[in-house]
Amino acid sequence: MNVGATPKPLLPIKVGFIESWRLVKLSYSDPLKHTQELERKYGNVVLHKVGKMSVVHLFGAEANRLSLLNPGQVLSNKKAWDQIIGRVFPNGLMLRDGDDHRYHRRLMQAGFKNKAMQGYFEQMSPQVAQSVGSWLSQTEPKGVKIYPIIKQMTLDLAATIFLGMNLGAEVTKINQAFEATVAASLWRMPIALPGTLLWRGIRARKTMCDFFLPMISEKRAGDGQDLFSLLCRATDEDGQGYTDQDIVDHINFLMMAAHDTTTSALTSMTYALAKNPEWQERLWSEVEGLGVDTPSSNDLSQMVETAWVMKEALRLYPPLSTLPKFSNKPFEFQGYMVPANALVVTYPIHTHHSKAYWDNPEHFDPLRFSDERKEHKRNAYSWIPFSGGAHMCIGLHFAEMQIKLVMFEMLKNYRWTVPKGYEMPVQQSPISKPTDGLPITLSRRPQKV
Ligand code: HEM
Repeated sequence: MNVGATPKPLLPIKVGFIESWRLVKLSYSDPLKHTQELERKYGNVVLHKVGKMSVVHLFGAEANRLSLLNPGQVLSNKKAWDQIIGRVFPNGLMLRDGDDHRYHRRLMQAGFKNKAMQGYFEQMSPQVAQSVGSWLSQTEPKGVKIYPIIKQMTLDLAATIFLGMNLGAEVTKINQAFEATVAASLWRMPIALPGTLLWRGIRARKTMCDFFLPMISEKRAGDGQDLFSLLCRATDEDGQGYTDQDIVDHINFLMMAAHDTTTSALTSMTYALAKNPEWQERLWSEVEGLGVDTPSSNDLSQMVETAWVMKEALRLYPPLSTLPKFSNKPFEFQGYMVPANALVVTYPIHTHHSKAYWDNPEHFDPLRFSDERKEHKRNAYSWIPFSGGAHMCIGLHFAEMQIKLVMFEMLKNYRWTVPKGYEMPVQQSPISKPTDGLPITLSRRPQKV
């Protein structure tokens, strides 16, 4: 845009009903294809009217920067996420704005300080070793669907570390309730007709609330070091803390935010390492080189190449492919006036696959994150799996710790493969996952004598 030029009004793309419907469907089923197609045909700023709703798609790192830094508070997280998951995860941290968000986030930091993280690590380490070690009881290789196995493990870990309990007999009920609440976020109709995903999600939310609420008074009075207890006792400088309902809302959201995203990342890494056995061996050498049977948190920080693979998997398969916001007021972007009251969407998945920022972006190449190449430093907003700005993922260090611990145990115990030519079918939204559960063949790695 010329300096001083008046921004142009943003006109909606002209598409007929059938084409419009195809684009909406594509945005849920294949956000990468959808965004690449929109950008190719219409450029970086696209207004699509869907019925009465205005949806503005913004592409590129500059769009990410605007969306995440949110100058002048032109965008609302709450108004966007409320429309998507507000009925099942109301008042979660991500569904708050401005001072209210800042206040709730500050209190939540009590659960993510160094001391708390070290406590989680010590609890998690033996549990991960035990869980991963039990995946194969036989000596012969075995075919398994790894996605549900990882999901079960991260849920068990979240129950211990976040809730300070073993879910025991409740595990199936709680797992199903989680499934139903997350699945409900796919549902786009505002009416919860009986039997629909939204209806099931709302019922499942009640199950979760009824499960958590009665535990709060005991947690407030106790000295537990689990995240739930820490949130119950978190206070501001005036001694005020969360209400009971705040705590239930935060715990519900945290359990979902933590376990589905980390499961997604671990599954993508497992797939990438099966497709690229030379990297599986390379990471095994890194783990072997630590010379320990049980890693300390310091050992995890030495797993540099494992971190590259994690970053590369998150680049190719960001658990959240799409970051929706809502415009509070009109604002200018790249020469256009974006209207108020529009859903303004940016796309980690689009930027992560863009030739503008990455060499050969479709290729699995963890070395791009090495100090020599640093492709992710070409632009601070080209790699954003954890978002950024005020809403940057609060659990990113927790996620990295858990991912490295699980990878350490997987590499130590096993080799895994997929058949030649296998391509993982991915459902990219709402949280990226393989639609076939990712079948792999798992075999025991010969142990040193
Ligand atoms: C690989 C794992 C993870 C990924 C890719 C991920 C991704 C994200 C993204 C993209 C956002 C921001 C959404 C926005 O801008 O609106 C976010 C927010 C959040 N995440 Fe994560 N997350 C992960 C793991 C976790 C874990 C383990 C926890 C908890 C222990 C967690 C808790 C949260 C919370 C509470 C927020 C809301 C932050 C705020 O609005 O201030 N996440 N996450």
